[in-house]
Amino acid sequence: MSAVPVIAIDGPSASGKGTVAQRVADTLGFHYLDSGAIYRLTALAAQRQSVQWQDEAQVAAIAATLDVRFDGAAIHLAGSNVTEAIRSEEIGSGASVVAALPAVRAALLARQHAFAQAPGLVADGRDMGSTVFPAAPLKVFLTASAEARAERRYRQLLARGEAADLAAITADLHARDERDRARAVAPLQQLPDARLLETTAMGVDEAVAQVLSWWNATINTPSA
Ligand code: DC
Repeated sequence: MSAVPVIAIDGPSASGKGTVAQRVADTLGFHYLDSGAIYRLTALAAQRQSVQWQDEAQVAAIAATLDVRFDGAAIHLAGSNVTEAIRSEEIGSGASVVAALPAVRAALLARQHAFAQAPGLVADGRDMGSTVFPAAPLKVFLTASAEARAERRYRQLLARGEAADLAAITADLHARDERDRARAVAPLQQLPDARLLETTAMGVDEAVAQVLSWWNATINTPSA
C-alpha cells in the first residue's frame, strides 16, 4: 500500500462528489484530485487539435503528453486558462467518450498517481477505488437519484449564467451514466469495500461530515 493515505470518492455525474471531495480535502489539509477534469482536458485538447474523440491511438497520444498546470482552482492547458471551458456539457460528453478508450485510461494513470503526495489525497472520479488507488483505506460511493443530479446540474449551469434545459440535461445524464457503467474498462461501479453515501436528501455539509466521520473511524482502527 502507498504510504500516502488516499480517500477515494467515486460516483456518477453531477452527484456532487467534487464539491464534497474538495471540502473533505480542505478540512484535512489533503491534496485533491478531480480525475474527471483530466478526462475533460483530454477531450478539450483533442477537440482543439481536430482529433475525433473516438480515435483511440491519437487521443491516447494527446493524453500522454497533455500540457496541464493546476494552479489552485485554475486549470491551464498548453498555457491557456481552460477552467471554464472544460466544464461545458459538450466537453463533459466528450470526456465520457474518450474515457471509454483503454489506451487513453492507461495513458492517464501515472498522471493521477502523481497526485498522491503527503500528507494525503482525496481523489474523486469513477474508478479511484477500483483501479487508480485500489489500496485506498477509505472508499466512498457517492450517489443521488438521477432526478436530483439533473436538478443539481441544472442549478449549477444557471448559476454560471449558462442556458440550461432540464429535460436535455436529464437525457444527457442518463446517456453518460450508461456509457460510464457499460464500458469494458474501469466501469463505474460500487465496490463491495466502498461505503455508500446516498445524498438525494442530504446537503453538502452532512455529506462532508459523514466522510470525515468514516475517515476518523478508519484511521483509528488498527489495520489487520
Ligand atoms: O466527473 P466528471 O463529470 O468531470 O467526468 C467527466 C467524464 O470523465 C465522465 O463522464 C467519465 C469520465 N471519468 C472517468 O471515466 N473516470 C474518472 N476517474 C473520472 C471521470
